[in-house]
Amino acid sequence: MPTPLPAHLAIIIPVFREAANVAPLVARLDAALAGLAWEAVFVDDDSPDGTAAAARAIAATDPRVRCIRRIGRRGLASACIEGMLSVSAPFVAVMDGDLQHDETILPAMLAAVQAGADIAIGSRHVSGGAASGGFSAARGALSDGGARLARMLLPVQVADPMSGFFLLRREVVEDVAPRLAARGFKILLDILLSARRKLVVAEVPYSFRSRLAGESKLDATVLLEFAGLLLDKATGGAVPMRFLAFAAVGAVGLLVHMAALALLVGPLGFGPLGFGTAQWAATLVAMTANFVLNNRITYRDARLRGPALWRGLALFYLVCGIGAAANVGIAGLLVRDGVLAWGMAGAAGALITVVWNYAVSSTLVWRAR
Ligand code: GDD
Ligand code: MN
Repeated sequence: MPTPLPAHLAIIIPVFREAANVAPLVARLDAALAGLAWEAVFVDDDSPDGTAAAARAIAATDPRVRCIRRIGRRGLASACIEGMLSVSAPFVAVMDGDLQHDETILPAMLAAVQAGADIAIGSRHVSGGAASGGFSAARGALSDGGARLARMLLPVQVADPMSGFFLLRREVVEDVAPRLAARGFKILLDILLSARRKLVVAEVPYSFRSRLAGESKLDATVLLEFAGLLLDKATGGAVPMRFLAFAAVGAVGLLVHMAALALLVGPLGFGPLGFGTAQWAATLVAMTANFVLNNRITYRDARLRGPALWRGLALFYLVCGIGAAANVGIAGLLVRDGVLAWGMAGAAGALITVVWNYAVSSTLVWRAR
């Protein structure tokens, strides 16, 4: 087997449930990058369909291909970052693993960066590019709206800030990596917003292709995360987005609690058992709802499954139980000692509880970074 040359260009390919697309993609890269020393790094979040195995099967005979398999993690942005930081090539590209991005423009992107740009973006929205093929009308409208919002925040002009296809110097990655939010889908936007200086951007047109195999992973939570990223960058990261999500889930939990209480006392006839019993039952319902929502939204990148889910739920009950006791205790003391009127005391108790629940469940229940 020939010793491979050190790669000049590393292509990072985040993949989740893309088993059928791995081999065709490598074949296309091979054709598009003939004559160049390149490597491809697939970053797979332990897909159940054997995506990692498909990549390793190719790697067994092609030293240009590697695979990073992450366990217990989900997230397009963090997968891209880990892939980019795993290589030593002077130039790094990020490209989807579903064949929707046009690999034949990679040489032009590389040329643009070698000619002085900090980053070359595969763009659907400059002349010669197109987005129509790959998106439904609704998804297209959403993408346009998001792009408009993003452009308002960006220090540089970019026609397609929502692109997931770009190429940059490795030094730029290394420099910006510690400041990246690393959540959600919009890694390019995150890089552009987190750079310490205005990056010189070159856009290379391409037509977004439609997906042939597998399906898109973009869903409502991804959109929520996008809103979170924009808010985070707009406020200079003053309030951790994860905390806001946790607090929002808490607010929903309050509504669930009141609804459950009304049901228990009313139609379900728990009234005779006493208000205390109904209040406890409603608390349990609300805590369970909060746990499920936090697991799906706030900590989606560290989502618990299987036995870990039940262990997490038990811990969450415990954490929130202590939080609730602290809430009642502290508010009671504040009122008794005349420090605050009951309204303010109640709010202070609730705030302390949310912060406690957040701090402890972040570290104990979900162990998010
Ligand atoms: N490792 C990993 N983990 N990969 C993921 C994850 C994840 O949680 N979620 C998605 N991917 C991979 C997919 O397997 C695919 O290779 C790529 O990331 C893009 O995901 P899609 O689900 O196909 O997204 P899309 O086609 O709707 O949107 C993409 O293209 C747009 C146009 O460039 C994204 O790249 C968008 O950011 C982009 O705007
Ligand atoms: Mn796609």
